[in-house]
Amino acid sequence: MTYSRKDLLDLASCSADEINLILDTAERFRAVSEREVKKVPTLRGYTIVNLFFENSTRTRISFELAEKRLSADIVNFSASTSSVSKGETLLDTVENLLAMKIDMVVMRHGASGAPHFLAKHIPVSVINAGDGTHEHPTQGLLDMLTMRRSLGDLKGRKIVIVGDILHSRVARSNVIGLTKLGAEVVLCGPPSLIPVEIDKLGAKVEFNLNRAVEGADVVNILRLQKERQEGGLLPSLRAYSRDWKVERHHLDMMAESGIIMHPGPMNRGVEIAQDVADGPRSVILEQVLNGVAVRMAILYLLSESSKRLRNTDSSTTETPDTDLPNIGLESA
Ligand code: NCD
Repeated sequence: MTYSRKDLLDLASCSADEINLILDTAERFRAVSEREVKKVPTLRGYTIVNLFFENSTRTRISFELAEKRLSADIVNFSASTSSVSKGETLLDTVENLLAMKIDMVVMRHGASGAPHFLAKHIPVSVINAGDGTHEHPTQGLLDMLTMRRSLGDLKGRKIVIVGDILHSRVARSNVIGLTKLGAEVVLCGPPSLIPVEIDKLGAKVEFNLNRAVEGADVVNILRLQKERQEGGLLPSLRAYSRDWKVERHHLDMMAESGIIMHPGPMNRGVEIAQDVADGPRSVILEQVLNGVAVRMAILYLLSESSKRLRNTDSSTTETPDTDLPNIGLESA
């Protein structure tokens, strides 16, 4: 099995096999994070541009660390300090970067579909680090890696996603990826924050939090996205917390080995109680650790597929089906 595409834009276009390949590869890179020397030479000589048009702390740092641990050279670009604020178009910005011979672009953008547009127009790999309210594939993958590490096979597991589903690209990537792996996904939140027709993606909807968390193997709690609330969708923060905050007593209703997740940043006391966030079932910091490994795996797999795409006329040629590729794990 090989990943044979130029880009990683969403999980909707990934097969279950591709998702599993990324997770298996990430598992191997995770071991690198546990070493004293956390750096490998895999992407030596590659230049990666991190294009962030929207604020981000953990995703940006996580990509940056992943790139540095693979020995890539990196350039960080944030829209507020660039010529974009002088009116330059996205394509012009990137054409200029390409002229400087970059090899990959990691992009976060407030507009859904922006990375897809870019990927269509430039010959280098594009990784979507979150586009509007559409998808956040690397977050979906790191969540799945975290779940898999705690629970094993995800087939038939009850995964509950609680909160502001409407504005959440994390929820969309989770639903899409998890249903491909055979999990049972339940979405729970205020009716005004659950998109209509979300069940078409294969998830169930449950408006009662107690019923939703009953027997859950995972409760993944989303941040209430205060910056994306258009008028009228939420009564008040107090009312939101009263009805949707995950608290200690919910933990007793979950499966015995059930885990608590949150993609961050957390609004403590709004969607998640302090003692749930810091309690023994919380794997929130594990998610952060797994995020670096997943991003290393994606960068590596895309670099390999780009090499193959460059070296062949047709994009369908695959390298021999070996066990798992040699990912250059000797220390740099
Ligand atoms: C998420 C995002 O930006 O979509 N955060 C993240 O990447 N860790 C979720 C959020 O902003 O609430």
